[in-house]
Amino acid sequence: MAQEDVFKKIVSHCKEYGFVFPSSDIYDGLGAVYDYGQNGVELKNNIKQYWWQSMVLLHENIVGIDAAIFMHPTTWKASGHVDAFNDPLIDNRDSKKRYRADVLIEEQLAKYDEKIDKEVAKAAKRFKDQFNEEQFRSTSPRVLEIAAKRDALHERFANALNAGDLTELRQIILDEEIVCPISGTRNWTDVRQFNLMFSTEMGSTADGASKIYLRPETAQGIFVNYMNVQKTGRMKLPFGIAQIGKAFRNEIVARQFIFRMREFEQMEMQFFVKPGTELDWFAQWKQTRMAWHQALGFGAENYRFHDHDKLAHYANAATDIEFKLPFGFKEVEGIHSRTNFDLSQHAKYCGKKIEYFDPETNESYTPYVIETSIGVDRMFLSVMCHSYEEEKLENGETRTVLHLPAALAPVKLAVMPLVKKDGLPEKAEEIIKDLRFHFNCKYDEKDSIGKRYRRQDAIGTPFCVTVDHDTLKDNCVTLRYRDTMEQKRVPIADLRGIIEDQVSITSVLKKLL
Ligand code: GAP
Repeated sequence: MAQEDVFKKIVSHCKEYGFVFPSSDIYDGLGAVYDYGQNGVELKNNIKQYWWQSMVLLHENIVGIDAAIFMHPTTWKASGHVDAFNDPLIDNRDSKKRYRADVLIEEQLAKYDEKIDKEVAKAAKRFKDQFNEEQFRSTSPRVLEIAAKRDALHERFANALNAGDLTELRQIILDEEIVCPISGTRNWTDVRQFNLMFSTEMGSTADGASKIYLRPETAQGIFVNYMNVQKTGRMKLPFGIAQIGKAFRNEIVARQFIFRMREFEQMEMQFFVKPGTELDWFAQWKQTRMAWHQALGFGAENYRFHDHDKLAHYANAATDIEFKLPFGFKEVEGIHSRTNFDLSQHAKYCGKKIEYFDPETNESYTPYVIETSIGVDRMFLSVMCHSYEEEKLENGETRTVLHLPAALAPVKLAVMPLVKKDGLPEKAEEIIKDLRFHFNCKYDEKDSIGKRYRRQDAIGTPFCVTVDHDTLKDNCVTLRYRDTMEQKRVPIADLRGIIEDQVSITSVLKKLL
């Protein structure tokens, strides 16, 4: 099945099984805004808990905060978002569709890569066992010709972006003969900068109201609280402040479901360090964060780092952790060495000292910062994409199953009476009453047992138990494992011991130590 079709199936699965709904669905949705349903919210909360505990429980020198979404408007002047948090936009006059000029050019670059891959695939087919891919890529005249065009475009594009040259960006689009995917024409407007922040007004009268922004990142809530936390928590460098919260961006190219949203959630941690040590900490956080992802068990081959060649003016190192999605390797998390830019800017704009007094050296300085920033929704999408399977069974049937890591699954155990009579429902309820304090259990009595298993497979429930007539005599139930579909008879008294450890977030956290 084409990857595009797989993705479409995942999107409809998310809706059908109560994971993600379009926002205001009864009014036909709102662009790039989504709601999480009864199963989605549980999975999302488990992802957040896994992140929070890995930061705050496992590190003695990391504490959490929860800052407000609204912040003093000067925050965004100081951070550079008012002046520079822009996307370059271009419109096609025929289709009246709006695009990000940089995305159009990036897609063109990807087309060159696809052409190269096609040449490689053709040659591999032709030469079979004799084929040496590395040699072919470095010697084939056709591949070298395409690569040269791609590199030239890449250089021109990077120069235009660095110089903020919007005329040149438009010229590249014209020279590369990029057409609007809807109208198929090259009838493009000029390129304009568009600020991504949503604004609103605070205050009751039109005169007295001031323009404020919905935060486009949670990080600034941490920077403006640096002194509060450092002083009240008597924190010593190095230390970190973690936060989970909503962020808002008026994204122009909002596609790919919950990958790029206008309202989304971030899990960010700013780690304050002594100047000069930041690159060591950067390297360490790269490893720590990659280990966090890989502990979920999706396979190391599905992750990669993408180190940035082009750095923001305030950064001295940056990388993305990319995860393999049906539409390619995509950024899920950013790790940035942000120097002392943010704290210095806030000090300048508020006119107060924002520093650290180092008792070891008796000097004061502005700490440097390593930031780890991951989108909850992108993480959710990655987990969904890698868990979804349409599995062909030995009997020829197909089952749709979510192989969610048990610690993230919305429901851990489904308890099912074989029939809705003879005291079996009461026995099932009794089991739930006892276990619900330890993990999320659901009772399910509707339809045949086979259908109920399928329903639980589709939401990723790792364990099901069936209560039958023998249960009333021997206090044993049939325990069924989601992934292997293995079934075994176990005493009710053993259920907690078998399940609890496997479904707890602690079981994954232990892999990180
Ligand atoms: N404080 C740094 C910062 O915000 P970013 O690379 O712009 O950096 C960090 O965003 C992460 O937030 C991204 O790696 C991504 O997971 C998530 N993210 C950013 N924009 C998003 C959007 N429009 N929709 C969903 N997630 C988004």
